[in-house]
Amino acid sequence: MRTLFTDIKELVLTEADNALSNVLKGTEMDAIETLSNAWLLLEDGLIHAFGSMDTMPELQAHETYNLNGSYVLPTYIDSHTHLVFSHYREQEFEDRIHGLTYEEIAQRGGGILNSARRMQEITEEELFKLSKEKLEAVIASGTGGLEIKSGYGLNTQAELKMLRVIQRLKEQAPIPIKASFLAAHTYPLEFRENHEGYLNLIIQEMLPLIAQEKLADYMDVFCERGFFSAEETDRLLEAGYKYGLKPKIHANQLYNSGGVQVGVKHNAISVDHLETMDEEEVACLKNSNTIATLLPGAAFFLAMHYQPARKLIDAGLPVALASDYNPGSCPSYNMNFIQTLACSQMKMTPKEALSASTLNGAAALELQTCLGSIQKGKIANLMITKPMPSLAFLAYAFGEQVIDQVWIKGKRIR
Ligand code: NIG
Ligand code: FE
Repeated sequence: MRTLFTDIKELVLTEADNALSNVLKGTEMDAIETLSNAWLLLEDGLIHAFGSMDTMPELQAHETYNLNGSYVLPTYIDSHTHLVFSHYREQEFEDRIHGLTYEEIAQRGGGILNSARRMQEITEEELFKLSKEKLEAVIASGTGGLEIKSGYGLNTQAELKMLRVIQRLKEQAPIPIKASFLAAHTYPLEFRENHEGYLNLIIQEMLPLIAQEKLADYMDVFCERGFFSAEETDRLLEAGYKYGLKPKIHANQLYNSGGVQVGVKHNAISVDHLETMDEEEVACLKNSNTIATLLPGAAFFLAMHYQPARKLIDAGLPVALASDYNPGSCPSYNMNFIQTLACSQMKMTPKEALSASTLNGAAALELQTCLGSIQKGKIANLMITKPMPSLAFLAYAFGEQVIDQVWIKGKRIR
């Protein structure tokens, strides 16, 4: 099957055939290539060729679309979500309006523990059905590659239930999905005074089972004051590695808790959140291959200060953006709104925000060789905008449906 798009106003984030797709660092993020007045040919679900309309050769295709005035972009790659959950938590949203903090809600047994109670009650079948519906909405919004975490189970049975649901989504979804094991999301009530007991449960019981069923790709820990200390995180990441799980962790969301350092020590693929960062953490990332993944949707929703994107990019680091879609700190998977937050609140340029949400998101999931840019041989997961005046309009026109069409594996799904 061959599909041809002609008269594309701009084809965004193009890479030459032989270019090595890699994470974009520092100034590279704003220097991405675009091709104006372009054509693009898809074949059997993959990007086959593209070029300028001025030099378009004679091409055979089963279907041809004239995209006069529209932009074509790679889909977003959302490298940090908690998409598998049973209930939203809008009551806590109201509690915060009335003055409680996210931490106070957690200490009272709400927050993650609230989601865990619901997770332990729901059947695997029902959880799968709800998650599949969410996933369909996520894909239709323009996301063409995704990470999903466990972490609302907090006991062996419920963590396995979540991971098996993620596994089924992986098997059935039209987009690549990676799973992260996050039993170390918070201490369950019965282990509040017995951290050793819960760490042992994760390390000795859960990890071997998960490895046996190959249910996870990455090891995640909520490294945070009041949750898992840097020392506890260190032990968990070490244990995960023994089962082949590379780290991708929650770090420095509420406090400067040593999360960045422990992540870098274990060569984490990414350290995520980073609302609270000092010079030491920036310097630590500079001596590493770890990607800084920023989640401005959570900072927005919890009314916290935003991540220091400028500082990180200006230091030459690779930055990814993700939604953090979850019922507590960011009940939205809208990566377009993330573009707006990144630009308006963190002073990223529209191109930096796009690089961070596409190729760098793919790199944060080790998918950069098959997704994240317009390159021959990559999966044809694409977004087509409505006619718009410039690329900046995508982040600028927040709340508008600027994305008109979504194509997954070369097929239009919206
Ligand atoms: O990334 N910070 C930890 N975990 C999630 C929120 C979990 C929740 O509140 O349900 C996050 O923000
Ligand atoms: Fe998260």
